[in-house]
Amino acid sequence: MRIVSGVQPSSDILHIGNYFGAVRQWIDLKNTNNECFFFIADLHALTEQIAPEELEKRVLSIAKDYIALGLNGPNCTLFLQSSVPQHTQLMWLLTTSAAMGDLERMTQFKEKSQRATKEDGVNAGLFMYPLLMAADILLYQAEQVPVGDDQFQHLELTREIARRFNYKFGKGGFEFKIPEPYISIIGGRVMSLTDPSKKMSKSLGSDSYIGIFEDKDAIKKKLARAVTDPEGLKNLIEIYTMVSDPTDEADLIETIAKKYENKFNVLKEDLASKIFDYFADARSKRAQITDEEVVEILRSGMNNAQKEAQETMEKVNRVVGLKKL
Ligand code: ADP
Ligand code: TRP
Repeated sequence: MRIVSGVQPSSDILHIGNYFGAVRQWIDLKNTNNECFFFIADLHALTEQIAPEELEKRVLSIAKDYIALGLNGPNCTLFLQSSVPQHTQLMWLLTTSAAMGDLERMTQFKEKSQRATKEDGVNAGLFMYPLLMAADILLYQAEQVPVGDDQFQHLELTREIARRFNYKFGKGGFEFKIPEPYISIIGGRVMSLTDPSKKMSKSLGSDSYIGIFEDKDAIKKKLARAVTDPEGLKNLIEIYTMVSDPTDEADLIETIAKKYENKFNVLKEDLASKIFDYFADARSKRAQITDEEVVEILRSGMNNAQKEAQETMEKVNRVVGLKKL
């Protein structure tokens, strides 16, 4: 199965919510022999205010995280969106198969444009965002696209645009594959340590989340401060099962709840060790990857992705009537 997905470099920290809610699916898809194209959506990141040095730093750091987690290899192309110019090329062609009204009713656009400040206004990139995303997906003839529910609407729109394009130009002998959303069965929603009624998020402050590469002391301290009302406790136990062997009976929710009944401090101590150990291999691998190696992997990903992208682009150009010279 051909899989495509992207991650916006919104920070240089991957927390356990990101991992179990999103990254884990990519790893599972890669490990089950699919043909994966995963990229860092650095062009999408430009729709937000971000300092150029910061963007470059984040992109490298995220790439390093993903490489440490094993997200590259023969069946897994890891690359930067901006390194494959066909993404923006195809986006332009898709603008003519998309309706203004559709873009205007996108929830993310509405939310982000409401948040825009008076001085900056709403940039047109925010409006075009879903079209670039559609290009990201259609360029590789993706069959399945793992995304979180917040991106579901954009995927629906991608399908709609692809159908419209196929209707208009399909007679020319080329059609876009209509991509399906990939919804994980295991995927979890990890809640904030400090306010378990909300999902764990960088935006809730650093005590609310645990970074997957944090050191043991930091993890211990954060867990020690974690709320243990019924909701908080449920969250901690759920995290415990996520970092446990799913086949081990001793790690089932009920067994854990019983084992640590009224022993919240022991639960927190054990959980800290489990989280730390769960990411131990990736952590030590990450420490050994140099920036040069990251660039090399991204470059090879770029070459691979460009080859695929160019094949599609030539067919698309042909069916819309752009003359090849
Ligand atoms: P944050 O809210 O920390 O800024 P992002 O919005 O950058 O995280 O999320 C990146 C990805 O991680 C998304 O696909 C999202 O669905 C997933 N994700 C984020 N937080 C959680 C969470 N607490 N539980 C499960 N998945 C999450
Ligand atoms: N918009 C997605 C997000 O914020 C990232 C993204 C960009 C993406 N292009 C994509 C995801 C293509 C899947 C497919 O999470």
